[in-house]
Amino acid sequence: MKDLFGKALLDYQNGNYTEDIITSTSISDEDELPLPYLFRNYSEMPKLEQHALKLSKGKVLDAGCGAGNHSLYLQQKGIAVKAIDVSEGAIEVSKMRGVKNAEVLNILNESETFDTVLLLMNGTGIFQELTQVSKYLTHLKSLLNPNGQILIDSSDIKYMYLDDDGGYWQDMNASYYGELDYYLSYKGEKETPMKWLYLDFDTLKLACETVGLKCELVYEGEHYDYLARLS
Ligand SMILES: C[S@@+](CC[C@H](N)C(=O)[O-])C[C@H]1O[C@@H](n2cnc3c(N)ncnc32)[C@H](O)[C@@H]1O
Repeated sequence: MKDLFGKALLDYQNGNYTEDIITSTSISDEDELPLPYLFRNYSEMPKLEQHALKLSKGKVLDAGCGAGNHSLYLQQKGIAVKAIDVSEGAIEVSKMRGVKNAEVLNILNESETFDTVLLLMNGTGIFQELTQVSKYLTHLKSLLNPNGQILIDSSDIKYMYLDDDGGYWQDMNASYYGELDYYLSYKGEKETPMKWLYLDFDTLKLACETVGLKCELVYEGEHYDYLARLS
C-alpha cells in the first residue's frame, strides 16, 4: 500500500490542498472524494454518524479513524477514545489534530477491550469480502467488554445494479453484489487496488447470528444506508 489516502490527508492538514482523491469501483466510474469531507465536524456529519456518536458510551475504539473526526468529537465530550488506522498518514493527521490516543494498527491486531467499537463511513468495507465477515465479526466480538456494543454502518447497494427498465444487469446469484474492487488515485498516482465490502442489513444480521452477536437496526439513512448495533 502506498498510503495515498494518508498522503492526501496530510496534504490537506498541512495546507497543501490542491486536488481531491479520485475513486472508482468495479461497478462505477470515476468520482471525486472531496478532502474537506474527510475533515468534517459534528454539524457537517450525516445524521447517521451523529446518531452513532450519541449512542457511543464508555471506553470507545474508533476503528479505521481516518483523520480522526469521530474521535475528536468524543474526546471533546470527555469520552475516553482510542483511534486506530492502518494508514500511517491518517494516524499522523489524527495526532496533529489533537487525538491523544492514536495508533497505526490493523483492527485484527487490536487486543484491548472496549465498551463501544465504532466503524463508520461504510464500516463493513474493512471486512473486504463476504468470506471474511465471520473472521472480522468474531474478532470484533472479542474486543467487547460485558454489555459492550459495535456500531457499524453500511449500505444495500443493490440499487446500483438496476438498469433503466427496472431489471438487474448482473446475475445477482453470481457472487455477493456488495463485494467491490476499489481503485483510488491521488495527484496522478494509483493506489494498489483494494477490496471493499458493502453489506445489506439482512446479510450482516445473518452473519452476526452465526458468531453469536445480536444485530439491531438503529438508524436508516436516506439512501439505502443504515447503522447497526451489534452486541
Ligand atoms: C472510508 S475511510 C473512513 C475514515 C473515517 N472513519 C471517516 O469516517 O472519515 C476507512 C478507513 O479505514 C482504514 N482501514 C482499512 N482497513 C483497516 C483495518 N483492517 N484496520 C484498521 N483500519 C483500516 C483505512 O485506512 C481508512 O482510513
